[in-house]
Amino acid sequence: MKALLFLLVAALAAVASALTPADLLSRAQALQSWMVEQRRELHKVPEPGFKEFKTHSRIVRFLESHNIPYRFPYAKTGIVAEIGSGKPVVAIRTDMDALPIHEPEGAAFRSQHEGWMHACGHDGHMTMAMGAAKLLWEAHQAGELPPGSVYIVFQPAEEGGAGGDIMIQEGALEDVDAIFGMHVMPHLPAGSVHTRPGTIMAGALSFRVTVAGRGGHAAMPHLNVDPVVAAAGLVSALQVPCALTFLGIRNETAGSVHALHSPKFTLDEGVLYKGAAMHASVAVNYLRTYAVPGGQAAAAATPAQEPAEAEADEEEEAEAEEVEAEAERKDEL
Ligand SMILES: *[C@@H]1O[C@H](CO)[C@@H](O)[C@H](O)[C@H]1NC(C)=O
Repeated sequence: MKALLFLLVAALAAVASALTPADLLSRAQALQSWMVEQRRELHKVPEPGFKEFKTHSRIVRFLESHNIPYRFPYAKTGIVAEIGSGKPVVAIRTDMDALPIHEPEGAAFRSQHEGWMHACGHDGHMTMAMGAAKLLWEAHQAGELPPGSVYIVFQPAEEGGAGGDIMIQEGALEDVDAIFGMHVMPHLPAGSVHTRPGTIMAGALSFRVTVAGRGGHAAMPHLNVDPVVAAAGLVSALQVPCALTFLGIRNETAGSVHALHSPKFTLDEGVLYKGAAMHASVAVNYLRTYAVPGGQAAAAATPAQEPAEAEADEEEEAEAEEVEAEAERKDEL
């Protein structure tokens, strides 16, 4: 009986220790050289929005070679890979397109498409999403993934084409409960993660609004409706937020110190596995936190987040905020 109890405790401990952020980080580290290879291949074939055909094929080949189920096409070249089943559904999103920028001669793994360059890190983003897909798929195969689904969303045309919007219109995210995006950031230290509750960046879109007023006498403004005042109010009321996480890539040694969209833009490949681990960790944590009660019997085996882990997360968050504040101070200088 005692032995049985011991076994039970040991089994519970094994479940509880699986897929912690640290665990995922070390599993991701083992994928690093594979990820570097993927990223360099993607870097060589930068393509315009909605024309990411070679990129699409490479991702499909990757998914098929691992037997990971996927749906396509969305917005011409978009793909949604599906890991697990049922609710909750959490999505990890990456962009796929490149920029009409001439990559300087002599650059490593230089673009084979003259006039086009992955100068915004999307090759790295896709690689991190593929790394996360591999980690999560392997965990799913091993029965370690909490109940629910993780979608890995490959989105075309981020650079102005609103590929994400088209994917949504075509139903790619119909049953998704939450979606997380991430972008590399050259002014933040390599490997550091930055985000905050609430809004973090402005959305970019254009629309037309007609504000109709009601004319009258200037001496009796209470009887009139001034459209200029209303329009001025609209400007501050219609700010469109988007939630994002940033992964710093600034590394003087690796030369990754140039701005996004610069022909000199360089990615510190050392962060690839960290990005993959972060994606996978966010997905696992979401499935655990928002487990649907009674959804699947296996939910009983899903451990709640360990208090120690939660504390570690808070510490990490506090650290990230500190780094962010520091970066802001530097920006101001
Ligand atoms: C910075 O780049 C160098 C050279 O590639 C690498 O050895 C080092 O680990 C990188 N540092 C970070 C924090 O990524």
